[in-house]
Amino acid sequence: MSFREAFFNKFFTLRNLFFLFNFLVLFMFLYAVLKDVQREWKDYQKEYKRLEISKIKEKMNRGESKDILKDLLRSVRRRPLEIKQILATDLKRVDRCLTCHVGYDGLTNASLINGFTEHPFAAPKNKIHDKHPFDKYGCAICHEGQGLATTFVGAGHMPKDEAQKSEWKKKYKWHVVEFWEQPMKAGPLIYASCNKCHESHPDVEGMEIVKKGQQIFRESGCIGCHQVRGEGGTIAPDLAEETSVKPLTRIDFGHAVTSGLITKEERTLENWIRLHFTTAPTALTPGDPEGHLSPDSKNPQPVAPTGMPYFGFTPEESESLVAYVTSLKKEMIPYTYRIPAAKTPEPQFASSTAHGRYVFQKYGCGGCHGKNADSGIPVFNKQGGRAPDLVKTVGTFTRAELVKKIQEGVNPEEKEDIKGPTPPIYMPSFKDRIKGSEMENLVTYLQSIAVKDEVW
Ligand code: HEC
Ligand code: HEC
Ligand code: HEC
Ligand code: HEC
Ligand code: HEC
Repeated sequence: MSFREAFFNKFFTLRNLFFLFNFLVLFMFLYAVLKDVQREWKDYQKEYKRLEISKIKEKMNRGESKDILKDLLRSVRRRPLEIKQILATDLKRVDRCLTCHVGYDGLTNASLINGFTEHPFAAPKNKIHDKHPFDKYGCAICHEGQGLATTFVGAGHMPKDEAQKSEWKKKYKWHVVEFWEQPMKAGPLIYASCNKCHESHPDVEGMEIVKKGQQIFRESGCIGCHQVRGEGGTIAPDLAEETSVKPLTRIDFGHAVTSGLITKEERTLENWIRLHFTTAPTALTPGDPEGHLSPDSKNPQPVAPTGMPYFGFTPEESESLVAYVTSLKKEMIPYTYRIPAAKTPEPQFASSTAHGRYVFQKYGCGGCHGKNADSGIPVFNKQGGRAPDLVKTVGTFTRAELVKKIQEGVNPEEKEDIKGPTPPIYMPSFKDRIKGSEMENLVTYLQSIAVKDEVW
C-alpha cells in the first residue's frame, strides 16, 4: 500500500474527520464559555457581592437581628451575575452602566449610599443623582459615554487629569474609543449636559462653569463672527448648530497632530474646541497662503489662514468656554423634562453712552476691534495688517458716515499682497440688525471714546 492510499484509507476517513471536527467544536465551545466567564463586568459584580456578604456577616457577628440578616444573606448569595440596564424610554436611552456601577442600582442598594469606597462601587450621596431618578434618566444623558457598552474602555470613561490617565492606561489599558462621538465628560465639564434640560439656568448648582463661559463669550465679542442658533455674525461657524454637534469625520486634525499639539488618540470634539482657546487657531487651520496645494500650479489659489484670533485665555477661562460651547448641543428631549430659564429683564441704562457700550458688546464688535474698541485683531493680508482700533479712527467720521459703515460693512478688497489670499476677516454689514435707538446710542458711544487730542 502506497503512502497515499494508506493516508486516505486509514487516517483521512470520514469517521476520523467527524471526530476531528467534534473536538474543534468542543474546543470552540469551551473557549466561548471561558470568554464569557471572564467578562470584565462579572468581576465587579462578584466583588460587590463579596463586600456585601462580608458586611452582613460582620453585623451578624455583632448579634444584630439574625433572622432578617439571614434572609438578606440568602438573597444576596442567590442574586445572579447579569447585565443590568436602565431603559429610559422617554429619553430613548438604554444604559448598562449599572452592570459595573452596582452601587448605583436602587434595587441592590436602596438608599444609594454604601460604604464601599472601592471604585466603581463608591456610591456617595450626590445631590444631583438624588434629583433625577435613575430609572427615568439613565446615566449617559448627563455623563455621556456609550450607554450600551459593558467594558471600561467601551463605555468611554475619560480621565480628568494626566495622573488618572496614566493610572487608567496601566490598570484598564485605557484609550479613547475611536469614532465614538460622545466620550464621557470628565470633571466639571459634566455640567455642560445640564443645559439640555435646564436651559441656561445660571442658578443650577454646578452650572457656574457654563455661566462663566457664557460671560466670557459675551465680553470677548465672539458673536461678532460666530452665530449661536442663527443669531450673530456669518463669518464663522454656528457654534450651537454646527460646532457643538460636529462629527469627527468633518474635523481636520491634520495640522494639530503634525505640529504635536495633540496626539492621534486625543482627537475628540472637546479637544478640538479647547485647542481654539489654548493655542493660536492659525496653527490648527493655517490655510495655504502661497497656494502651494492648489491643483493648478500655473494659477494658484491661495487660501488665507483662519480668521479666528488668539485670545490668550487662562486655562480656567478656556475650560469655561469649552463648557459653554459644548453646552450648546441640543438633543431631542421631551418638553416635560425641560425647565426653561426665567426671562431676564432687559437691562436699564443710566445714559445713552452706557446703552451704546452694551450694544457694542451685544453684537460682538469687540471680537474684531477689541473689548474696548482699542485693539483691532490681526487680519491676514489686509492692508495695514489688522482691523482698526476704533478709538483712533472714529473721530474722523461723521455720524452719518459711521451709521453707513456699520449698516453696509466694508468688502475686503484692499490686500497687502495682491497675489495673496483674500483677507479672512472683513467689516460685516449689520444692515437692519442694529437700528433705532440701538444704532443712535452705539454711534454716540463710538464718538464718546474717540481719542481727541491725537496729533495728526
Ligand atoms: C466594565 C465596567 C464599567 C462600566 C460598564 C462602566 N463603568 Fe464607570 N467606572 C468603572 C470603574 C472600574 C471605575 C473606576 C475607575 C478608577 O479606577 O478610577 C469607573 C469610574 C467611573 C466614573 C468616575 C470617574 C472618575 O473620575 O473617578 C464615572 C463618572 C463613571 N464611571 C461613569 C460611568 C458611566 C456613565 C457608565 C455608562 C455609560 C459607566 N461608568 C460604565 C467601571 C465601569
Ligand atoms: C442628572 C445628571 C446625572 C445623572 C442622570 C447621573 N449622574 Fe452621575 N454624576 C452627576 C454629577 C453632576 C456628578 C458629580 C460630578 C462632580 O461634580 O464631580 C456625578 C458623579 C458621578 C460619579 C463619580 C462619583 C465620585 O465618587 O467621584 C459616578 C461614578 C457616577 N456619577 C455614576 C453615575 C451612574 C452610574 C449613573 C446612572 C445610574 C449616573 N451617574 C447618572 C450627574 C449625573
Ligand atoms: C433630561 C433632562 C435633565 C437633565 C439632563 C438634567 N436635569 Fe436636573 N432636573 C430635570 C427636571 C425635569 C427636574 C425637576 C424635577 C422635579 O421637580 O421633580 C430637575 C431638577 C433638578 C434639580 C432640583 C431643582 C429643585 O428646584 O429642586 C437640580 C439641583 C438639578 N436638576 C440639577 C441638575 C444638574 C446639575 C444637571 C447636570 C449635571 C441636571 N440637573 C441635568 C431635568 C434634567
Ligand atoms: C474675528 C472673528 C472671530 C472671532 C471674534 C471668534 N472666532 Fe471662533 N472662529 C472664527 C473662524 C473664521 C473659525 C473657523 C476656523 C476655520 O475653519 O477656518 C472659528 C472657529 C472656532 C471654533 C471651531 C469651530 C468648528 O466648528 O470647528 C470654535 C470652537 C470657536 N471658533 C470659538 C470661538 C469663541 C468661543 C470665540 C470668542 C472667545 C471666538 N471663536 C471668536 C472666527 C472668529
Ligand atoms: C468680523 C470682524 C468685525 C466685526 C464683528 C466688526 N467689525 Fe468693524 N471693521 C472690521 C474691519 C476689518 C474694518 C476695516 C474695514 C476696512 O476699511 O477695510 C472695520 C471697520 C469699522 C469701522 C470703520 C472704521 C475705520 O477705521 O475704517 C467702524 C466704524 C466699525 N468697523 C465699527 C464696527 C461696529 C460698531 C461693529 C459692531 C456692531 C463692528 N465694527 C464689528 C471688522 C469688524
